[in-house]
Amino acid sequence: MRKRVFSGMRPTGRLHIGHLAGALSNWVRLQDDYECFYCIVDWHAMMSEYADTNLIRSNCREVLLDWLGVGLDPDRSTIFLQSHVPQHAELHLALSMIAPLGWLERNPTYKEQIINIQNKDLSTYAFLGYPVLQAADILLYKGDLVPVGEDQSAHLELSREIARRFNYFYGDIFPEPQTLLTETPKVPGTDGRKMSKSYGNAINIADTPDEIWEKLRTMMTDPARERRKDPGNPDKCPVWDIHKVFNRDAEERTRLSDGCRGAGIGCLECKKALFAHLMDLLGPIQERRRAFESREDGVMEVLRKGAKRAGITAKETMSQVIGSVGFVDR
Ligand code: TRP
Ligand code: SF4
Repeated sequence: MRKRVFSGMRPTGRLHIGHLAGALSNWVRLQDDYECFYCIVDWHAMMSEYADTNLIRSNCREVLLDWLGVGLDPDRSTIFLQSHVPQHAELHLALSMIAPLGWLERNPTYKEQIINIQNKDLSTYAFLGYPVLQAADILLYKGDLVPVGEDQSAHLELSREIARRFNYFYGDIFPEPQTLLTETPKVPGTDGRKMSKSYGNAINIADTPDEIWEKLRTMMTDPARERRKDPGNPDKCPVWDIHKVFNRDAEERTRLSDGCRGAGIGCLECKKALFAHLMDLLGPIQERRRAFESREDGVMEVLRKGAKRAGITAKETMSQVIGSVGFVDR
């Protein structure tokens, strides 16, 4: 039996090349060795977007298309929407019964977001329980491995603690999910800060070639290199950070960085080279994305099929849970 991988993403819009270099390329590879469940967590999106849920629906579609474009394969992996499998909500309820308030109040992500997110009121009952729903997502499928970035470590630790506490009360049901820490290479946005949708500095997976070139053309470079004749320093240039992640041609990289330091090339030439590498990577991804987009049965059918498959395991786990708690059989 192959081990199970579970991971999820909130449907917050189009995904960018930072997601691709970090999480997504890893998720694609994991399909070769594991039984993978990849879930678009729309209930988690509602937790922060409850005051305006308008975009959740279209964002789910965009995320799905990006996933399929980069190579998540619905024939090998179970790809689905959290809200399509009602057992997520049911297990969340069961786990919330045993989740101590103190654990949730101590969660560093919770404390940080309550302070930092000013434009939304996140002091809700459900938002405190964000990691409880996340634990339910994983435990519903008895996931062994959860590929996530460093920012999710505390949530995963909570998932293990909740699993342990449930097992302690009701018998061994849940394996403790292990964190599979994803290496995330540094991909700065067009303004030099971390690439993020909320900063408006992202190069998206589905951007057209024109859009990508326009973003690169106007992208910040080494600030010391004001004119073409000024020598530059690639180590101080965000364009170069992106080269390091996406340009696999070592010879060309040497030629460009030498050219930058000696003012032998201009930034435009350097950016054109990067553009070519990005298009080599994104071209086939966008082609696959378009093919799924024009599927006759509609791409959302992928999610319905996925939910059917996920539902089989979810139902099994939930009846074990009901049985071990000791409720009357249905
Ligand atoms: N909390 C995760 C994030 O913000 C998303 C998520 C929800 C998740 N449920 C999950 C990730 C289960 C891994 C496993 O990125
Ligand atoms: Fe950056 Fe390239 Fe310009 Fe050097 S030549 S400053 S690495 S964009």
